[in-house]
Amino acid sequence: MRYCVGNVLFEITEDTLETGMRGYPVGYCPTSKVDPEKGLIYVGYPVSEVAFWAPIEAIYLLYHGKKGSAQEVTSFYRDLVKRGSLSDELIAAIRKLPKKAHPMRLFSMALLMMETFEGKKDYREDCLTLIAKVPQLVAEVINHHAGWGDTPKPQPQLGYMENFTHMLNVPDANKQHLGEVLRLFNLLHYDHGGGNLSTFTGKAVASGLEDLFGSLAAAMCALAGPRHGRANQDCLAFVQEVQHKLGENADEKGVEQFLRDRLAAHQLVFGFGHAVLRVEDPRATVFYQMAERLFPDHPFVKTALHLRKVGPLVLKENPKISNPYPNVDAISGTILTAAGLPYPDYFTLLFGLSRCVGIAIQIVYERLEARGGKGTPIIRPKYLFKPR
Ligand code: MLT
Repeated sequence: MRYCVGNVLFEITEDTLETGMRGYPVGYCPTSKVDPEKGLIYVGYPVSEVAFWAPIEAIYLLYHGKKGSAQEVTSFYRDLVKRGSLSDELIAAIRKLPKKAHPMRLFSMALLMMETFEGKKDYREDCLTLIAKVPQLVAEVINHHAGWGDTPKPQPQLGYMENFTHMLNVPDANKQHLGEVLRLFNLLHYDHGGGNLSTFTGKAVASGLEDLFGSLAAAMCALAGPRHGRANQDCLAFVQEVQHKLGENADEKGVEQFLRDRLAAHQLVFGFGHAVLRVEDPRATVFYQMAERLFPDHPFVKTALHLRKVGPLVLKENPKISNPYPNVDAISGTILTAAGLPYPDYFTLLFGLSRCVGIAIQIVYERLEARGGKGTPIIRPKYLFKPR
């Protein structure tokens, strides 16, 4: 089957079945796009530029589809703050969740309970409530899971991510460095087009008219997998493995040999490649710049920088590898660790804290605005019968 979108022709053949729907257009995304060469663009603004904005300015851009004036952004934030903090009932319910479970599970459960205590069964209202309160929800989940004590009350006079850093009871962290890294981490992960797995899952579940919080809980289960949001955890483990093998003073030559040995043994190399990108992920570029500025002497940062340099050279030798460049996960866990958050179990949750915002806004678009306000129909692709 062939179909044409704009002037681009797409062809569905047997070879393209069971390939994860790679690259096949199924709809519109009003919040962001991922260009194979230029990377992530939020409503027309490259992420390398948005990385220097305040988080709330970026959220305004994604929600309203245009850059807000200082006054518009301030009044948007004021309206979010008016929604108040999480109810005591919800906080009590989160504090009873089993600490044995992975924090991503707790997050999905907390989102489901958020519907019970805070939901209005109105996609737009619930989206704004989610944006306003998800920092407190995630801080509650992490502090509870880690046993870091009761979460301090939100301080809305602080900025969006400063407030989150204030609520996170991380022991022994330099709060200024941590705050800077968390702010950037949040800005870089809000959205990544419409087709990444968690976003697609959230919109698919919402297409059956499940409410916003239930749809996001499903989206966060999708994000929790090692091929998607948990990749940052595995990438840090990879950097640690290099260190373990080569010691703290590993140099480029040693790292290059380590990669060659690993590939020769048919073992995985983490942190390179992407389904869409064909260049170094600009989100990774911004993180590398911050890591070089704030933590140039941290041994994990040094190793991650060696991997950035030699990884593409080694991987390019294999003509089957279409993208030998680092992705965002190659450095995001390392920079969080260097900033005083050496707890890989929470990395995906921080990704989720951010990504929930983009998914919620995309759900509002698909449910209330797409197709002249009718919304998109229930997701129902066709599968061809083939006996095993
Ligand atoms: C993301 O940010 O969602 C990941 O890079 C994965 C993707 O875009 O498919």
